[in-house]
Amino acid sequence: MCGIIGYIGNRNAAPILLEGLKRLEYRGYDSSGIGLIKRKRLAVYKKEGKIAALERTLPKDISGKPGIAHTRWATHGQVNDINAHPHASFDNRVAVVHNGIIDNYAPIKHKLKQDGISFRSETDSEVIANLIARHYQDDPEVAVQNALRQLEGTYGLIVLFTDNPDLLIGARNGSPLIVGVGEKEMLLASDVSAMLAHTKQVFYIEDRETVVLQKDSYKTVNTENSVVDKTIEKIEWELDEIEKGDYHHFMLKEICEQPETIQRAYGGGGRLLPDFGTSKLGGLNLGKQDFFEIDSVITMGMGTAYYAAMIGSYLLEHMARLPCKAERASELRYRNAIVKKNMLFFAVSQSGETLDTLSAMREIQHRGGRVLGICNVVGSTIARESDGGVYIHAGPEIAVASTKAFTSQVTVFLLLAIMIGRMRDIPASLGKRYINELTTIPGKIAFILERKAEIEQLAEKYSKARSFLFLGRGVSYPVAMEGALKLKEVSYIHAEGFSAGDIKHGPIALVNEETPSLFIAVEGETFDKTLGNMEEIKARNGRIITITNSDNERIRELSDDIFVVPETNELLSPLLTVVPLQLFAYFIASILGKDVDQPRNLAKTVTVE
Ligand code: F6R
Repeated sequence: MCGIIGYIGNRNAAPILLEGLKRLEYRGYDSSGIGLIKRKRLAVYKKEGKIAALERTLPKDISGKPGIAHTRWATHGQVNDINAHPHASFDNRVAVVHNGIIDNYAPIKHKLKQDGISFRSETDSEVIANLIARHYQDDPEVAVQNALRQLEGTYGLIVLFTDNPDLLIGARNGSPLIVGVGEKEMLLASDVSAMLAHTKQVFYIEDRETVVLQKDSYKTVNTENSVVDKTIEKIEWELDEIEKGDYHHFMLKEICEQPETIQRAYGGGGRLLPDFGTSKLGGLNLGKQDFFEIDSVITMGMGTAYYAAMIGSYLLEHMARLPCKAERASELRYRNAIVKKNMLFFAVSQSGETLDTLSAMREIQHRGGRVLGICNVVGSTIARESDGGVYIHAGPEIAVASTKAFTSQVTVFLLLAIMIGRMRDIPASLGKRYINELTTIPGKIAFILERKAEIEQLAEKYSKARSFLFLGRGVSYPVAMEGALKLKEVSYIHAEGFSAGDIKHGPIALVNEETPSLFIAVEGETFDKTLGNMEEIKARNGRIITITNSDNERIRELSDDIFVVPETNELLSPLLTVVPLQLFAYFIASILGKDVDQPRNLAKTVTVE
């Protein structure tokens, strides 16, 4: 989704902004642009396509300060140079980069046109630049405040004033905005990775706040124009974490990081209490008594985070004996959802900025419900606005397709389920077994990763298939869904995940020699039933690839290909079975020459509905 960055300070803004744009690339975009002030003149460069295309259009000696820049993910208006940001006002006194959607842009545009102002682009964002310019007499801050009063919708924006190069103004409503405080310089961006090379000292702008930046000062005000105090926080991420290192793609790097990221999710042991067979999680803001009073749980998220939420629900029901349900946040938000005193909600989000999840969380809170966040990005909006929560500490996830965040989210749900379960239903001996088993998972994943060449061979063999079915039961059903999502996202091959038990109720009609079925068959409650479903596919000449932890003759007979993951408890098995599926999607996409890290049409952080 769109990314924005602004710089004010003594240095030439151009290389800083270009580097920032490259750090924002991972979010997904279709055009980019830079606006700079040089000798009190506004210079804007923008280009459809990759940042490399923008770079080719820039003068070799490009310089100027302050400056703003943008990666656009089109919503209003086609993907072309004109619709790219920054957008300059009719009189070139104001330039704006904008994330979000202005809902009432059409009537404002109509009115401005009636006043004789002409527009160059089809975007909603150009309206902001013209509206601010219309209000701009001599005070930039007042002009921005007056314009914002007229806008409805979501925005994270940065405004540059051609005749006032000593300041940059930012404002936020619904789209993230973070200020980076440097040595006699300030940065403003939608994402900390865009500023990490320059400063780790940041503070967060909240909805309906406006920030005025000068190179050595900042001032944040709310809608009443009262100054808001900000606490500067330190970003924990290191620069090498947002770089590819020796890997060709971030996706492979992040898949391979999972032994460490899972360990970080259980706190390297710090969140585990092996002697009591349980876990301890700070930050939940719930007392022991509260856990006895909870009578049901709803977990919510979108995409991969939703599949982690499904597993979370499964684990909480099984271990903590609580009625649980996973919901897609986008559906929950608009239903007349039941919210009761003793219900507990979990909002799962890697970025902590997904608007569907954030909006559902706010709706639940508005109705008096209590929502805990399970987030990766520290200081993200969901993390800040939730009533408590747990960070997964997976480190920056740059590839658009989520991998390591998924296994870390599942790990955190395991900790929660063990903790609540131990209070309600699980004896210490069983809790200890789960905890011990969890600590063996990183080693087992490392073993799977050592055998990634086997998955690459499978990918070679099946890369010509045009459609795949992914099938699993019980806790492996969300894994099947996640495997299918990964494959379609990065390879553009059609893939559907189903509960294996459901296939004979319809999806089996899709089975033929050309459509392979990928089964996740894990020993436990539904293992035999899953084998029965494999028989059904086999009887219809479907090819079967099986990911299993059970290497026996029957499963080998039924499977055309098999990948055996190490033995583990069924409840922990998603942490292992998902890894070959991630690798399968990665290798197929690579073999087909797809843009693995930035698949078409996708954005890393979806900040629009
Ligand atoms: C899939 C993927 C998306 C995200 C979803 C939620 O690979 O990355 O499905 O999982 O958009 O994003 P977060 O977790 O940031 O809320």
